[in-house]
Amino acid sequence: MRKKYITTPIYYVNDVPHIGHAYTTIIADTAARYFRLKDYDTFFLTGTDEHGQKIEEAAKKRGKSPKEYADEISAKFKALWDEFEISYDKFIRTTDPEHIKGVQKAFEIMYDKGDIYKGIYEGHYCISCEAFFPESQLIDGEFCPDCGKPTSLVKEESYFFRLSKYQDRLLELYRSNEKFILPKNKKNEVIRFVEGGLQDLSITRTSFDWGVKLPESINDPKHVMYVWLDALLNYITALGFGGDKALMHYWPADYHLVGKDILRFHAVYWPAFLMSLELPMPHHIATHGWWTRNGEKMSKSKGNVVDPKAVADAYGLENFRYFLLREVPFGQDGDFSQRALIDRINSDLSNDLGNLLNRIIGMSGKYFDYHIVSDQVERYHKKELDDVKAIIKGLDELAQDMKWHRYLEELWKILTIANKAVDTYQPWAKMKEGKEDEAMALVALVANILAKTSLLLHPIMPKTTQTIAKALGFAIDKESFKRYIEDFLLLAPFTIEKVPPLFPKIEEPLMKEEPKSAPKPKESNTEGVITIEDFFKVSIKVGTIKEAQEVPKSKKLLKLQVDLGEERPRQIIAGIKEYYSPQDLVGQQVCVVANLKPAKLMGHLSEGMVLAAKDDEGLTLIGPKIPKKAGTPVK
Ligand code: MSP
Repeated sequence: MRKKYITTPIYYVNDVPHIGHAYTTIIADTAARYFRLKDYDTFFLTGTDEHGQKIEEAAKKRGKSPKEYADEISAKFKALWDEFEISYDKFIRTTDPEHIKGVQKAFEIMYDKGDIYKGIYEGHYCISCEAFFPESQLIDGEFCPDCGKPTSLVKEESYFFRLSKYQDRLLELYRSNEKFILPKNKKNEVIRFVEGGLQDLSITRTSFDWGVKLPESINDPKHVMYVWLDALLNYITALGFGGDKALMHYWPADYHLVGKDILRFHAVYWPAFLMSLELPMPHHIATHGWWTRNGEKMSKSKGNVVDPKAVADAYGLENFRYFLLREVPFGQDGDFSQRALIDRINSDLSNDLGNLLNRIIGMSGKYFDYHIVSDQVERYHKKELDDVKAIIKGLDELAQDMKWHRYLEELWKILTIANKAVDTYQPWAKMKEGKEDEAMALVALVANILAKTSLLLHPIMPKTTQTIAKALGFAIDKESFKRYIEDFLLLAPFTIEKVPPLFPKIEEPLMKEEPKSAPKPKESNTEGVITIEDFFKVSIKVGTIKEAQEVPKSKKLLKLQVDLGEERPRQIIAGIKEYYSPQDLVGQQVCVVANLKPAKLMGHLSEGMVLAAKDDEGLTLIGPKIPKKAGTPVK
């Protein structure tokens, strides 16, 4: 039988769940539900990551033992996922004895193979990211290049994993498997990191205790395992690796869902560990972007963290799920606002879907006593049916690629076909003309489109779609999916059931909180609106790129010398390396924000910002269509 194994990251128990965690989990849940509906034998894993220095410190701060604290927070994650009806098959905790046993077994195998050796680690460690960095990668010699927090200097005895040995095989993996990393445009970043040279990885620590001990056969009790080795292995210990292996037939994973901040761990370290263990590679590392608040990173200190439960309570869990998946292209960052959520509910759900259902219930009641028969649909609406079929055909690939925003966008096109058909064929007019057959064909066409929509929307909105299906006389299950989607059959005659409006319109934000730190514009309270004076504060000029070079050790940055018609060119550090090679840039004209306060990026001074547009397909620098003199103002 076809199978799918889907995982979320296991969440650190240093803090309670927030919207970022809910996002990953809801994407994974959607995928799991989709594949189950398509009759794949699906296994969906989530859980909590409970060891390491970060947890040890968080527990200490609260006067608790790490295990006590982990129990408490892990239970909160589980409770939230249960409340959200997340359809996981297993919730793993890295403090589970079977997991610990499996991790020790893996260590032993890698050690016996000669892939682990003992040495001294000297370098910097970011506790927040639980990651090691050589000094050359730090910002201003001190700060973490990933999260910006201060790092600490570590010098201790450590076991190392021979990561360097796997460099070529990793590159081969990325090259031979186009879709190993999803979305595809994230791949270059990983390739550059690996091509930059892999150093062996420190995989044990001796300066604290809260971790998995080394296997007894190695007999070195002062070491505990590096939390990322411990954590990544959860994906196989959950299947019984190192124990009964009961679920190992699900391996390899089909989708590891991860946020962009932990891509490197999953796309570099994890495959290398698996190579060492001689296990097959996962099929996809599916990488999503970050949710921000008013464009800023969420953090407790800023008080702008979005609580997923509060949003679900106020707006409805399924509306929230729809919003998360529809609003942001997979892989890109998105900004959370109540306004955007309300717009999605009112426009997509209430107008396009809810109203259509109400209209069809109304018309079927008025003209046909709620009784609907599909036998004339083919005759009068072949074109519409063909169009719907063509759209539906394309959806599976989008789902398989985790492009849920595109999936929903396409799905909504079939609702547009239905809404247009009602306006074009006007069943009320047909009834007046005595063309009952045609009116019935139209009503049945719409009912069938709604039936197909409910099946395809089910993974995202499980309960609402069951209500729609029930109104249309069927239940959502694998059989219906096969019948109405895969075989594209039409509904058998049925009596439509009335349902109350599913998506009442929302006028005003339903949550009163606005993060304390987000200052409102002074002159106006219209969110996001600025005055012309505000705009003129920004000096944008045309610049000509004179030189472009790589910033050593940086995955994202290029160093540009840009002529702005001043005495000397400005040095600008731009995060465009994934999209442009330096030689292609020289001579190009770009728009530059010229009065931005200079800043240091990875130790290099940046005296401006180049403008660019970024979407699903990639990033494009913005410049004048026709060359302009360097320094020309842009207004
Ligand atoms: N414990 C590690 C994962 C180990 S997996 C073997 C970890 N945990 S985490 O709790 O810090 O983060 C878990 C996930 O939440 C990551 O995928 C991360 O990208 C995601 N998010 C955390 N904040 C986020 C946003 N603001 N927006 C979207 N997702 C973000 O990392």
